[in-house]
Amino acid sequence: MTEFNNRITKLFGIKYPIIQAGMVWASGWRLASAVSNAGGLGIIGAGSMYPDVLREHIRKCRAATTLPFAVNIPLLYPDIDKHIAIILEEKVPVVFSSAGSPKTWTTTLKEKGVVVVHVVSSSRFARKAEDAGCDAVVAEGFEAGGHNGREETTSLVLIPSVVKAVNVPVIAAGGIANGRQMFSAMALGAEGVQMGSRFVASEEASSHPAFKQKITEVQEGDTSLVLKKLTPVRLIKNEFYERVAAAELKGATTLDLSNLLGQGRSKKGMFEGDLREGELEIGQVACLVDDILPAARIVEIIWQEFSEALANPLRML
Ligand SMILES: Cc1cc2nc3c(=O)[nH]c(=O)nc-3n(C[C@H](O)[C@H](O)[C@H](O)COP(=O)(O)O)c2cc1C
Repeated sequence: MTEFNNRITKLFGIKYPIIQAGMVWASGWRLASAVSNAGGLGIIGAGSMYPDVLREHIRKCRAATTLPFAVNIPLLYPDIDKHIAIILEEKVPVVFSSAGSPKTWTTTLKEKGVVVVHVVSSSRFARKAEDAGCDAVVAEGFEAGGHNGREETTSLVLIPSVVKAVNVPVIAAGGIANGRQMFSAMALGAEGVQMGSRFVASEEASSHPAFKQKITEVQEGDTSLVLKKLTPVRLIKNEFYERVAAAELKGATTLDLSNLLGQGRSKKGMFEGDLREGELEIGQVACLVDDILPAARIVEIIWQEFSEALANPLRML
């Protein structure tokens, strides 16, 4: 397929409606610029960056690509006002916000011409994001890696529910790592896909090589959603996970869980490569990820598989 246009490619000014998720300890300027240069939308994950580090990544990304890119900001981040100021000063064209109320910053960003997309895990939150003025929403299902909704709605149910609930375009996330999965999400009414886990296992991701290798070994059932009382997160089952799961079974309180988590647990796992004691955030779909590839190759393969599925959607005799 030579050309593809829909509301998402138009909104961001990109060739393919393939978005690389903003991810702590994984998506810095190298990954984001590689994806944007390949025709998708690359996102810098600001959630693990101090404000000055974020500014450096934005500048490096801009030097590495002339194409649009975005920044993801988890809204509960303590220095959120500093991040917003940097995003405006550096004239970042697109922001993906998550984990917090879209009411707080959407108007400020949009007044300065920034395209704003908010990540949601339910139709109710999708309507709130639309009411707050967001240009699009990401519907992120229970399968997804990283922090997640409490209601456990899977992508197969969430995507059409959110499509029905709002008029703005919907980007599907959670459980998508190949072109046929992308095709399925688009068949359910999504106009783009956001992929996280697939891009962690890319050469340009800043995650530790041991974590990337671990992702290629993950089987079905090797991840689970824990810490629901605190902030629900999908992790690979390792020693740290087992302790959390055991504590939860015994009725651990929010304070118990927060003590167990301590400080810097996600950096320890995903950036420093401590596969036993660190938090290893990844989605169920890691069971379909077998290799670590250059990000541009991932975009190319996804688009090729998607185009093939579009031309020949069903297996028939
Ligand atoms: C390692 C990792 C870190 C993540 N960090 C963030 C983050 O900082 N902000 C955010 O909004 N979502 C984050 N997510 C969720 C992704 O943005 C994305 O929605 C999700 O990975 C999609 O599901 P998938 O993993 O099945 O592709 C993270 C996901 C992973 C795997």
